[in-house]
Amino acid sequence: MSGHGDPVPMIARKGATLRGVAEVPGDKSISHRALILGALSVGRTEITGLLEGQDVLDTAKAMQAFGATVERLGPGHWIVDGVGVGGFAEPADVIDCGNSGTGVRLIMGAMATSPINATFTGDASLRKRPMGRVTDPLALFGAQAVGREGGRLPLTLVGARNPVPVRYVLPVPSAQVKSAVLLAGLNAPGQTVVVEAEATRDHTERMLKGFGAELSVEDTPEGRVITLQGRPELTGQSVAVPRDPSSAAFPVCAALIVPGSEIVVPGVSQNPTRNGLFTTLVEMGADIAFENPREEGGEPVADLRVRHSALKGIEVPAERAASMIDEYPVLAAVASLAEGTTVMRGVKELRVKESDRIDAMARGLEACGVTVEEERDVLVVHGRGAAGVPGGAIVATHIDHRIAMSFLVLGLVTDRPVAVDDASPIATSFPVFGDLMRGLGADVAEGSL
Ligand code: S3P
Repeated sequence: MSGHGDPVPMIARKGATLRGVAEVPGDKSISHRALILGALSVGRTEITGLLEGQDVLDTAKAMQAFGATVERLGPGHWIVDGVGVGGFAEPADVIDCGNSGTGVRLIMGAMATSPINATFTGDASLRKRPMGRVTDPLALFGAQAVGREGGRLPLTLVGARNPVPVRYVLPVPSAQVKSAVLLAGLNAPGQTVVVEAEATRDHTERMLKGFGAELSVEDTPEGRVITLQGRPELTGQSVAVPRDPSSAAFPVCAALIVPGSEIVVPGVSQNPTRNGLFTTLVEMGADIAFENPREEGGEPVADLRVRHSALKGIEVPAERAASMIDEYPVLAAVASLAEGTTVMRGVKELRVKESDRIDAMARGLEACGVTVEEERDVLVVHGRGAAGVPGGAIVATHIDHRIAMSFLVLGLVTDRPVAVDDASPIATSFPVFGDLMRGLGADVAEGSL
């Protein structure tokens, strides 16, 4: 799992239409935050619908290492007895965040203003990813980081002994960086301010308020200005984690491309900081009905009824990138089947995800017979429309769950099957992906070409 074990090749073949209800697991971003905020609270946090993917399990383990009590009562049902803001203990061993950039970056933020030291590592994918984007702002609070070249993991963070509050303008549109700064601000006296030019997912802001922090958000010409009052007393809460729209993306896209399909994906977040993919698919001609709009776990959600659709290529504007940043791989797969060209702009952040996702998608699509063009910040997919996609390739996933799932979705309609060299990273975010897709009628199985 997550790049530590033996690779598990998987293959998808053209087959039956997809039918049924796809109940995708809990949201990964909210699951990490529920555990971390629970650990930083006084009293008990009870979580239902927690994603039990490896990324989140690694965060649960880390919270124990920092002194919280974390217990699993049943499937998705967990309790956290927190230590309060400023109450983290020094971990006795290295914190291994596995494949999770969100886990490591948020936890570094959460500990950076406590008088403790911690050493962080992760799998081969995480050890390649840039951490300077988080350790730079954490240094402004007074924390010190010593890592490998380029600030990469393994890295030791020496928490600030006398933290000072910070005003930080995000140089990259990243919810992980924003969240790390806000979590560090919790144990700094006075006001910590984060400014983001582009709105990124806002779960940290919503949940901090829910746990009792004093936090305000203002839209200004400079961008979204988030102000947090330091040293609040956070109190344990009940958190019902809504389903993950980034996981919903895979069955939704599969149903759109497999002829004759009709599925329902219940409880999919319509949070505007997360729903860019659905806007894009509708613009491409997707038949998606947004039924029963309501609120679940503090998030706006709807049931998505999705029917097979003829899609056309479009220009996806750069301003939309933050609201669908994890969905570009599966969008690129879908775009290869559309009539016409899809241009995705403003996507350079994809280069520093679990893999360089622009490169991974471009190489994989080319191997499947699709013409693509890439620039540093742009991915162009020339849809093959009625000609269909040949497939017949084994695609390298580079320890990246979303690359694996995207090509397994594509393989459901290609002329020849599509295999991925390693599907094991899927367990980091969507451990029931294979069973769920087979339950809808998809032909996905362990194996290769
Ligand atoms: C996440 C933020 C995004 C996203 C990741 C989850 C989060 O990363 O890609 O899967 O939970 O804050 P960036 O903040 O680096 O864009």
